[in-house]
Amino acid sequence: MTAGPTHEKIDPVRFIGNYSSGKMGFSIAEALVAQGAQVILIAGPVNLQTTHPHIRRIDVVSAEEMNSAAQKHFPAVNGAIMCAAVADYAPVNESQQKLKRSNETLTLELKPNPDIAAGLGKIKQPGQLLVGFALETNNEQQNAFAKLQKKNLDFIVLNSLNDPGAGFQTDTNKISIINRDNKTINFELKSKTLVAIDIVEQIILAMGL
Ligand code: CTP
Repeated sequence: MTAGPTHEKIDPVRFIGNYSSGKMGFSIAEALVAQGAQVILIAGPVNLQTTHPHIRRIDVVSAEEMNSAAQKHFPAVNGAIMCAAVADYAPVNESQQKLKRSNETLTLELKPNPDIAAGLGKIKQPGQLLVGFALETNNEQQNAFAKLQKKNLDFIVLNSLNDPGAGFQTDTNKISIINRDNKTINFELKSKTLVAIDIVEQIILAMGL
């Protein structure tokens, strides 16, 4: 599993990040171990604890680090759930000194980060399950299905930022799950703990367990 945000360093005191809390991913990890799974949880910078002995946590900071950990562990697992809100870009140069204030315009040059989910989609073997997430603000259904196809996912969990109570920094979420046949299951607004149980149920069905 990947979970949480990534931070892309600008200088020793600043980074590019996002509002992901990691709660959805950590709840899924808990729901998976409750069903007997062993989980490798690759976590970006979050304020969350993990205690279950069947959750092996790997803390990372940047998208590059998250990608290396995901690439390393994917060949030996039954599936991957890509719950992290990975920064799409990182500064080309990380300044070793704190950038000084000036009255000039400051331009940050950014380079694209690896698409971790798409990278795993390329090396996925028969029998391995790849689950992605999509957080959309418009054309939710079409955009989410396009992401599923582009990244070679088996299903995608869609959260719409238009739904009150869904998305980042909330304890609740309202999701839809779209599969490779573009079939959609809509779920009610629930706590992230209960949403995680719904997602794990779909994973178990998809894996034929
Ligand atoms: N993802 C990833 N690596 C990235 C970007 C996204 O693994 N560099 C994964 C996310 O964890 C999620 C899925 O891809 O499972 C979709 O993420 P999202 O941010 O919605 O899509 P993007 O591909 O970044 O597209 P965009 O930001 O243009 O909507």
